[in-house]
Amino acid sequence: MPESIINVSYIVAAILFILGIKMLGSASTAVKGNRISSLGMLLAVIVTLSKSGLDYTWIVAGLVLGGMIGLVAAKRVQMTGMPELVALFNGFGGLASLLVGWSEYEKVRTEGWGVYMEKVGDAMPGQWFLALVIVLAVIIGGITFTGSIVAYLKLSGKIGGTATIFPLQKLINLLVMLGAVVAGCYFITIVDNQTAQFWLWCVIFLSLLIGVLGVIPIGGGDMPVVIALLNSFSGLGAAAAGFVITNTVLVVAGCLVGASGLILSMIMCKAMNRSLGNVLFGGFGALTSSGGKQVEGEMKALSVKDAYYVLEAAQSVVFVPGYGMAVAQAQHVVKELSEILERNGAEVRHAVHPVAGRMPGHMNVLLAEADVPYEQLCEMEEVNAIIPTVDVAIVIGANDVVNPAAIEDEESPIYGMPIINVHQARSVFVLKRGQGAGYSGIINTLFFRENCRMIYGDAKATVGSMVAQFEE
Ligand code: TAP
Repeated sequence: MPESIINVSYIVAAILFILGIKMLGSASTAVKGNRISSLGMLLAVIVTLSKSGLDYTWIVAGLVLGGMIGLVAAKRVQMTGMPELVALFNGFGGLASLLVGWSEYEKVRTEGWGVYMEKVGDAMPGQWFLALVIVLAVIIGGITFTGSIVAYLKLSGKIGGTATIFPLQKLINLLVMLGAVVAGCYFITIVDNQTAQFWLWCVIFLSLLIGVLGVIPIGGGDMPVVIALLNSFSGLGAAAAGFVITNTVLVVAGCLVGASGLILSMIMCKAMNRSLGNVLFGGFGALTSSGGKQVEGEMKALSVKDAYYVLEAAQSVVFVPGYGMAVAQAQHVVKELSEILERNGAEVRHAVHPVAGRMPGHMNVLLAEADVPYEQLCEMEEVNAIIPTVDVAIVIGANDVVNPAAIEDEESPIYGMPIINVHQARSVFVLKRGQGAGYSGIINTLFFRENCRMIYGDAKATVGSMVAQFEE
């Protein structure tokens, strides 16, 4: 295919990506936006594969093997395992960037720099530039890979989800980072020398180490920021890999992922009321001796039948979903109950906290899957403004995001995180299986409030019984 057609197709693909992302901004256009972006990616892949001089054996082998692993992983994953699968896929994106950077260096080393520079012509300002982008692809890719593996292990509960802190941690992290930068700079300056290979290995090793050391001290409620940040890194790594192999559309796509991931990280930080620096270096979520003030009082249980009497008379109801709704897969029956309540004359809202669940937009995805009308979805600030006038707030498997300790108890590890103020509603029903803590592992003072009643059991079964009460 002529170079000019390839370049025009890349521009069209980039426009489709941007249009698609713009449409993802609204729930009503998101599905269309996803399709438009996918179309852009398909165009980019087809055009790239039609370039002359490609060895299709390796491409097809990679495609079949990667496709099979992806298919099996996606088929086998439970809905509740989705967040960790996404974390793992981010990591594979990082690994791909690292391997592209490394293999391109090996190619140039064996071919000789002169032959290579002649081949790429004006596309590369000089060999220093290739060396620089190789180092960037390797560092960002390496950090993303091991950082995502640690995030995967934490989210899936294979290792503890809390922050791991050890003496001199910040100093050690700083030294490892400095080591990677120094080795990278040295590699760039002596890149056509045989010893450069050793320095690249040092960069690879140190960047893999930074990923582990950087994510282990982050835990508890701060994980959402890490997930968003690693997502951003996987994009930046891909952009660096795009420079390495002089592929414009990879640079554009990588920058889009990098920038949107960074914006998402900022949104997550705002939702936790913390700065990015504080999340990355604060060691939040570590198990400290102080888990907050002692809580007095007791949790009061309520039967579904009694809850029904209250709901029957309610004029306004707010559902607050959390991770437990995903575990129970209760979204469809929640939609059913909300329709019944509406028919009964109540005003119904579904309030979504930005970090509810285990991945950005987790609750929005579940509610959209159940076809909950967009008009009923409320953001945290919006619902907090009207919550004192709400008759019943039904908390469906949410815990940390409704814990009043976050705004009232300065000793609490989650102090400062904005929450959905369900404790200010006239009555609160909390649907959960037992007295288990939330992701951050701390006691929820909401459960001991006078206006709060616990309805124990799997959320799907409990909401199903409520629906049955209305239908009797
Ligand atoms: P959590 O605080 O994790 O609480 C979930 C609750 O659901 C648990 O207390 C559990 O209690 C209950 N539950 C589990 N299975 C259930 C079932 N089948 N039926 C009914 N209840 C069930 O959830 P949240 O309020 O959504 O908060 C999210 C937390 O995860 C935050 O700390 C957030 O920072 C963190 N996090 C978020 C993300 C993103 S990006 N959103 C990523 C990583 C971490 P029982 O065991 O007693 O049933």
